[in-house]
Amino acid sequence: MRRGLVIGNWKMNINWHSAIALVDGIVADMPAVNADLVVCPPYLYIPEVSARITDTRLICGSQNIAAHAEGAYTGEISGSMLREFDCKYAIVGHSEHRKYYADDNVVVAKRYRQAIASGIVPILSTGDSLAQRKQGTTFEVVAKQIEDVIDIAGIDSFHHAVISYEPLWAIGTGRTATGEQAQEVLEFIRRLIDSKSPEIAEKIQILYGGSVKPENAKNLLAMPDIDGVLVGGASLDTDSFLKIYSSFQN
Ligand code: 13P
Repeated sequence: MRRGLVIGNWKMNINWHSAIALVDGIVADMPAVNADLVVCPPYLYIPEVSARITDTRLICGSQNIAAHAEGAYTGEISGSMLREFDCKYAIVGHSEHRKYYADDNVVVAKRYRQAIASGIVPILSTGDSLAQRKQGTTFEVVAKQIEDVIDIAGIDSFHHAVISYEPLWAIGTGRTATGEQAQEVLEFIRRLIDSKSPEIAEKIQILYGGSVKPENAKNLLAMPDIDGVLVGGASLDTDSFLKIYSSFQN
């Protein structure tokens, strides 16, 4: 049985005071659910968030990680720096980073590899655009996003990784994939991993992301291959985020 996982990606939202209120609110009201709960604040807020969640069940992650261990990479944050502030997870290959900063599969794989080397669990984010879905190339696109990482980092690294499927057409649009649409792609991802390592396929957590809300979380989490969710907008509100987390109950 795979453990459930809910990740809040704050993106470049909220200010310092709201960030503190949000994290304190989550910790204060976090229900006893048999699943892990993670927040990924902007880099600047990570030290404060980490300090506030010491000795709680809430876990801190980051929204990205540098593709290199150290050196002259202005504006980047390394895996070892993230580890100093107790970051356990790092999102790599989010579609917004692929789109606005031109991260291709190779750069994503290098970020992924740095996470692994730093002892941070990479959340490898995959996803198709609406045009790709209409053309029927969803599986092809997602497979390439994963296979390019396997080529560079090796399949064994997936013992320590999470994969997410976040279709671009569902992010921030209010248009969620149905449970069946999400399940179809997550099942495909698990079969792809199974073709390389049945052992990893059985245990790897695969998440869905894209307009996840308290209203649709239960239906998504009921799907056999959906082990958890990556939440954007709804993770900025304590109540919504904890309702999504509570969807694991029952
Ligand atoms: P929304 O939940 O706002 O659609 O964002 C999803 C996402 O990109 C999480 O990484």
